[in-house]
Amino acid sequence: MSQKILVTGGAGYIGSHTCVQLLNAGYEPVVLDNLSNSKSVSLERVRQITGRDLIFEQGDVRCRKDLVSVFKKYDIAAVIHFAAFKAVGESVKIPLEYYDNNISGTVTLCEVMNRFGVKNMIFSSSATVYGMSTDVPFTEEAPTSATNPYGRTKLFNEEILKDCTISDPDWKVVCLRYFNPVGAHKSGLIGEDPNGIPNNLMPYIAQVAVGRLPELKVFGSDYPTPDGTGVRDYIHVVDLADGHVRALDYLQKVSGCEIINLGTGCGISVLQMLEAFSRAADKPIPYKFTERRPGDVAESYAKTDKATRLLSWKAKRGVDAMAADTWRWQTKNPNGYE
Ligand code: NAD
Ligand code: WQD
Repeated sequence: MSQKILVTGGAGYIGSHTCVQLLNAGYEPVVLDNLSNSKSVSLERVRQITGRDLIFEQGDVRCRKDLVSVFKKYDIAAVIHFAAFKAVGESVKIPLEYYDNNISGTVTLCEVMNRFGVKNMIFSSSATVYGMSTDVPFTEEAPTSATNPYGRTKLFNEEILKDCTISDPDWKVVCLRYFNPVGAHKSGLIGEDPNGIPNNLMPYIAQVAVGRLPELKVFGSDYPTPDGTGVRDYIHVVDLADGHVRALDYLQKVSGCEIINLGTGCGISVLQMLEAFSRAADKPIPYKFTERRPGDVAESYAKTDKATRLLSWKAKRGVDAMAADTWRWQTKNPNGYE
């Protein structure tokens, strides 16, 4: 019989892609999402892509009643915990809402998991925990720090989960530190659907290319990088989703809390990403150089050996696939899921 996996935040960007890969791998996702940053149509599309059904329960990870009802109703084998707020700038303006959603949510979830004896979790962490460090590529042992409330929620969550595994050896946790997730499913049916003007590079470029925004502002041209623009480790969301399926298979072998980077290991500059997108869209993308964005580092990319060793996983898709798949999603859904 296939295993039921509780996917919190499963209607969101990374969650919906992970549901596709879980269904394809024979798992049964049970999505719990309060739709605070997503629409349930994403799950309709997951059904359409896979030809399989998936269970959706609308609810909040901070609500004990919602969680208890899910754990009573379904025999959950493990949890993939995506549900969180994720906008760095917003977290500076409304820190308490971030601490409540991202930290109280995890604590309540873990309490209910304890009560039902489900002690296997994959947690969405982030390369943001490497803070302002310049020591690229980042290994999992690199010093961590945070420069904003969002980053702090990821750091605190890692510590909370570590403490759970210390208190009870039955707990097995994998914290996946994602680098920069981009791209979309190749069907063009699911993808990233940010609210309002995007904060992140890839959805911003996509909206310029489709004509919703006039031009890209390139934040800084004087970084100590080959072309002066910021360098990041962009990872295709389908590769990232596959990494979760591998981590689920690996979870039984974990003792304690394992932290694993998910990135490609390659640094790509803003201008390189723009070029890739121009090739995919077959048109020039207007841009202008502006000031550096406060809090940005020059370079961030992963050392990926640990993921290869422990998960037998490597990212397969390069920047051209990332750009082409984003472009397909954007042109098929110029207004996102609306
Ligand atoms: P997303 O906003 O698309 O998905 C998050 C989902 O969680 C949404 O569907 C939202 O409605 C839901 N949600 C939020 N709070 C909830 C709550 N209290 N109860 C139930 N559901 C709730 O974001 P994403 O890009 O898919 O990110 C998923 C996870 O990965 C997050 O934890 C995020 O911090 C982390 N992460 C994302 C990135 C990135 O760049 N996208 C990078 C590193 C880490
Ligand atoms: C990438 C590069 C910008 C927008 C953020 C979060 C991080 C993680 C992933 C969740 C940088 C440049 C961007 C624009 C630009 N999220 N840029 N013009 O900042 O690496 O990471 O998302 O965990 O926590 O901080 O990603 O896509 O915003 O920026 O020039 O309009 O693109 O300066 O060099 P970032 P990003």
